[in-house]
Amino acid sequence: MAEIVAEEKINKAVDPQNLSEGEKKHIPEITAPESIASGEAFDVLVEVGLIPHVMEEKHYIEWIELYLNDKKIDRVELSPERKKAEATFTVKIDKSLAGKSVNLRALEHCNIHGSWEEFRSIKVS
Ligand SMILES: [Fe+2]
Repeated sequence: MAEIVAEEKINKAVDPQNLSEGEKKHIPEITAPESIASGEAFDVLVEVGLIPHVMEEKHYIEWIELYLNDKKIDRVELSPERKKAEATFTVKIDKSLAGKSVNLRALEHCNIHGSWEEFRSIKVS
């Protein structure tokens, strides 16, 4: 018998120009170079969020994931003992993508408010 898995809704900004307080606390902030050279490693910092999310036992960010064009780079598990809800990912883009734009996607999960995502496009030379 096939198992039915409920797909969890992923939240994003309703109006990116006018974020609510809840959105500011949950939408991942992606810091990455605007353009990068293929084959060279670079760091991507993901912070939650524009207003730092609390890291308390009853309310915290459980994990942060980073994707490159739908391929998962990594997942960083966080605990409430962490001071800040943030993670740094080291990414290397394949030389076959030189001359193109790639899409970074950050996804995070709050134990109370669910999953939130943000995107960022970067140019590859
Ligand atoms: Fe939350």
